[in-house]
Amino acid sequence: MRRFISAVSTAALVIGVVVPSIAFSSAMYPKGKGNIANGKAIFENGKGSVPACGSCHGSDGMGDDNMGTPRIAGQYAVFLRKQLEDYATDKRKDSTMFVMNDNAKGLSAQDRTDVSTYLESIKPGAMGKMAFAGSDLKELAANGVEVGLSHKGKSLVEWGQGNRAKPVAACRSCHGYNGRGAPPIYPRIGGQRYVYLVNQLKAWRDGTRTNDPMSQMQVIARNMSDEDIKNAAAYLTNASDYSDSNYYTPYDH
Ligand code: HEC
Ligand code: HEC
Repeated sequence: MRRFISAVSTAALVIGVVVPSIAFSSAMYPKGKGNIANGKAIFENGKGSVPACGSCHGSDGMGDDNMGTPRIAGQYAVFLRKQLEDYATDKRKDSTMFVMNDNAKGLSAQDRTDVSTYLESIKPGAMGKMAFAGSDLKELAANGVEVGLSHKGKSLVEWGQGNRAKPVAACRSCHGYNGRGAPPIYPRIGGQRYVYLVNQLKAWRDGTRTNDPMSQMQVIARNMSDEDIKNAAAYLTNASDYSDSNYYTPYDH
């Protein structure tokens, strides 16, 4: 981490003030350096015994609430790759039917890098911006899913809740504005599927998911009530990467 920080500040010194900040911010975290064509082929067709990723994660990679799968398109490659390595080594256990452990093991390390690089490169929106693709909360509620209150979730995401016996840190303090992510460590959680967000927060809380560095998420989730979890997920799933009139994130490239 220290080397990372000093590399960034040296770059900032060398580049000085002439280059707009966006130009060097995109070099601030390690991008996927895999083979995009191979990654795309794996996503669309699978490989050997591993089925096409799109068959569960949606043909656009945006996840599926009925299957409990996450959106993986537009997630940071370095985070996706970590998750695939964690599944491959059983550091993370898929809580559904262990499918992801088998899928990750069925790919080589290079394949895992390639598919992560491809997924990060997907920019489905106009002007290369990420399209908004959260869950439809009304539809979920109509299907009997318990949906939280997004205005309460917003307050938790933005400011946390310190004034109570079990305090919760603001999600934003690590995951960035509206949960848009802060690579390399903190994944995008804004625009993620509602059902997946709820499942993961419960998994961190009950200790069935333990692959977080320094137990950062387990500590937070243990202090979250069911209501907190549903509220935060309700806000995050529809949270945009961009604030009004700002068309860039520090990580756009
Ligand atoms: C049979 C269905 C299925 C297939 C096929 C599948 N996945 Fe998954 N994937 C899941 C499920 C379910 C989860 C959530 C598991 C959990 O709760 O831990 C998941 C989770 C993930 C995650 C974790 C994402 C995160 O935000 O932490 C990644 C990365 C991933 N899958 C990538 C892939 C890739 C790449 C492929 C194709 C090689 C693939 N998946 C194929 C069902 C599938
Ligand atoms: C102290 C820093 C920190 C704070 C604050 C924090 N997180 Fe996290 N979170 C992490 C880290 C680190 C990971 C990545 C874990 C990994 O590598 O598997 C993560 C991962 C997650 C994931 C899993 C994402 C995925 O795609 O698998 C969810 C969901 C999540 N956080 C939700 C939240 C919510 C909701 C809040 C606020 C209530 C929050 N986090 C606050 C550090 C934090």
